[in-house]
Amino acid sequence: MNPNSSTLRVLAASLMSAAAAFAQENNSVQLRQFLDQQAGGLNKLMVPAESALPVPRLTNGNVDPRFRITEARRFLGKMLFFDPIRTARIRPEFGGVPATRQTASCGSCHLGEAASRAGTLLNFAAGGEGRGYTDAAGTFVPRRRTRSDLPVIRSMPLFPGDTMVDELPTLTDIFELAKGTPARGRKLPPPGNLLRTGRLDAVDSVARNAPSVIGFAFNNRLLQGGFAGEPDSSPGGLNPFDTTAGDNVALLLLDAHRMLEAQSAELQKVPAYRKLFRDAFPEEAAQSDSAGDVNVLINDDTVLRATAAFMRTVVTRNTPWDRFLAGDNNALTPAQQRGARLFFTPAANGAGGAGCYSCHSGPMLNKQYNDSDVTGVGQFVEENFFNLGLRDHPLQALNAAVRKDPRFRDDGRREVTFRDDDAFEFRTLTLRQLKDGGVFLHNGSFSKVRDVVQYFNAGVAQDEEAAAASTFTARFSYPRGSGMPRGLGLSAAQVDDVADFLENALYDPAFVRFDPNSPTRTFEPTVQDLTYSAYRPDLAALGTVDGRMPSGLPRSNNDALSRRDMGIEFQDVTGHVGYAISTASRGIDRQQDAVRFTNNSSSMVDTHLIVVVRGLADQVQLENASGVTATGEPYIRVFVPGGVLMPGQTIEQTLRFRREPGTPVGYFFRLLSGQGNP
Ligand code: HEC
Ligand code: HEC
Repeated sequence: MNPNSSTLRVLAASLMSAAAAFAQENNSVQLRQFLDQQAGGLNKLMVPAESALPVPRLTNGNVDPRFRITEARRFLGKMLFFDPIRTARIRPEFGGVPATRQTASCGSCHLGEAASRAGTLLNFAAGGEGRGYTDAAGTFVPRRRTRSDLPVIRSMPLFPGDTMVDELPTLTDIFELAKGTPARGRKLPPPGNLLRTGRLDAVDSVARNAPSVIGFAFNNRLLQGGFAGEPDSSPGGLNPFDTTAGDNVALLLLDAHRMLEAQSAELQKVPAYRKLFRDAFPEEAAQSDSAGDVNVLINDDTVLRATAAFMRTVVTRNTPWDRFLAGDNNALTPAQQRGARLFFTPAANGAGGAGCYSCHSGPMLNKQYNDSDVTGVGQFVEENFFNLGLRDHPLQALNAAVRKDPRFRDDGRREVTFRDDDAFEFRTLTLRQLKDGGVFLHNGSFSKVRDVVQYFNAGVAQDEEAAAASTFTARFSYPRGSGMPRGLGLSAAQVDDVADFLENALYDPAFVRFDPNSPTRTFEPTVQDLTYSAYRPDLAALGTVDGRMPSGLPRSNNDALSRRDMGIEFQDVTGHVGYAISTASRGIDRQQDAVRFTNNSSSMVDTHLIVVVRGLADQVQLENASGVTATGEPYIRVFVPGGVLMPGQTIEQTLRFRREPGTPVGYFFRLLSGQGNP
């Protein structure tokens, strides 16, 4: 080879990569300047340090000590969030099923792997079963459905298999009203008996898509109609202590999710919780000691304050976007940079952008760029509610049915303010961690982020009634201005860029999997959190079990399918699954068998099928074993499609053996369902 030409080529290549690096740096610097201008300061897009997160303040500006975030409170709040011990408020007189007691938690509908959302269109806590399965590619697929072992209480033909869903999925109660008592929305019990309620019946499910709790601290209103944080004096407010949205929501949710009243007695029984509450609430601990009354320390109020402290810390801090804002020029790909630029460019006045930032600015990308309260200190009412012409979540059909009102609609903010000029308006949501979100918008009507972007791009409403309301916003339908065509008019490639920015630039793996080098806290309890013997000997001394919640129950869910999903239990399905073996090839020291497994039972076989190969001679090895059981037998993990083997369904698996020449390959199976290592 000609040495000169090769030298030249190396030189040219290094010049080119230097040029590319320069271009990338140049683009990054320019984009940051542009963002700085559009957002009114780059700092308005950056996630503050944990010590600077918005918290309720007293009028003198100091942090209200009631709501101060301490590590002890955060840790307690996290444990409470994921501990099924609290769902003890099951009331058979309203259809509650005692077997569902203490089987679910906040974590049933807010999963780390699903961006702290349910990840599924329908969300289920008490009365549900299952958590999710991992497929062959290692991807977590959330799943929770109504429990198959409960008697069917109500037959709702809408969702085959999900027949017992809450009739009144919103926080609605129907009271027998005392004569002359005005019906006042959802106010605390008026005189008269509670006739029906969705909060105490067989299945806990909410008729909206479960949103992320990321950025909780940054909201003055929570829940998608802004119910939480609404003053008690407002017609639809239910805020007896007139606290902030964060504390109000934590209270409302106790009521909604079968926890209120009944949880404290359960928590008081657990020595580790008594310790955790003492650490988190030292003043209340002292008062409780002098009064000789543990109720002063462990009650609904301290529970909700600990929960709110935990949720205030739920943010992501180490996405490519955060690193880019902090100055890393290589954090975003060129496509993501183009997407970010479109996102922050107006759609109006021929600017050609997507205009998203007009509603999705601030560190959580859920504030209007000119919102007076980007820091979320709580002084101002957010006006960030919009009618995007969306139809209802399908579960609202149950609400319509039980009210005998076929025209019943989930009308968002109007449900809270009772004002027509709030009809069909829903709160703007954070765009962090969307990639794992599963389904999007309050009605869960899209399962791909790109499809949501395209919905905005087209500007055509999904729902006639919402679109006919005076609140239907032209910022959605005619974002380029009146006289211009509908929608944004972005090309398919531009829609791709915006979707890439949202899905990948705003994604933080440490939210899901603990990373000691990341500033982001993992949402779910980590191995460190739950290995008390190593990290919390004080709790271990009080009887906690490593890997379990402080109560001793499993994390999040305590139903049989969830325990199998989480790998802590197996079901022996040897009698349910038949098999046919055929030898595909046989060599002097090898043998390969093909096995067809068929579900011969009338019920589903869930999660992975674990094929334990028993009775092999010492001279024979199973080469493609996934592992070895505790008793030393090889097993193969078979990933069943969709996480279930339906009755009659067959799946094939190859077994590859190596043997000492001449040794016969004889074996039989033990078949298990579960996702752990048997
Ligand atoms: C049955 C499933 C389910 C359970 C259990 C559940 N949630 Fe939710 N969560 C939802 C749904 C659905 C919404 C949206 C409701 C709405 O907008 O009206 C929601 C909303 C929220 C919000 C407001 C988020 C926002 O941006 O407005 C917070 C915070 C929250 N949940 C925390 C909790 C806590 C804490 C618990 C346990 C006490 C809990 N959730 C239990 C399904 C659930
Ligand atoms: C006029 C205000 C407004 C504008 C402009 C806007 N959004 Fe939104 N966005 C919202 C509201 C409100 C919601 C929640 C609506 C609901 O669920 O009913 C939302 C929800 C979303 C969601 C779903 C989030 C989730 O967790 O389900 C995505 C994704 C999204 N917007 C992306 C965009 C993109 C991309 C743009 C620019 C093309 C954009 N938005 C422009 C107000 C806006």
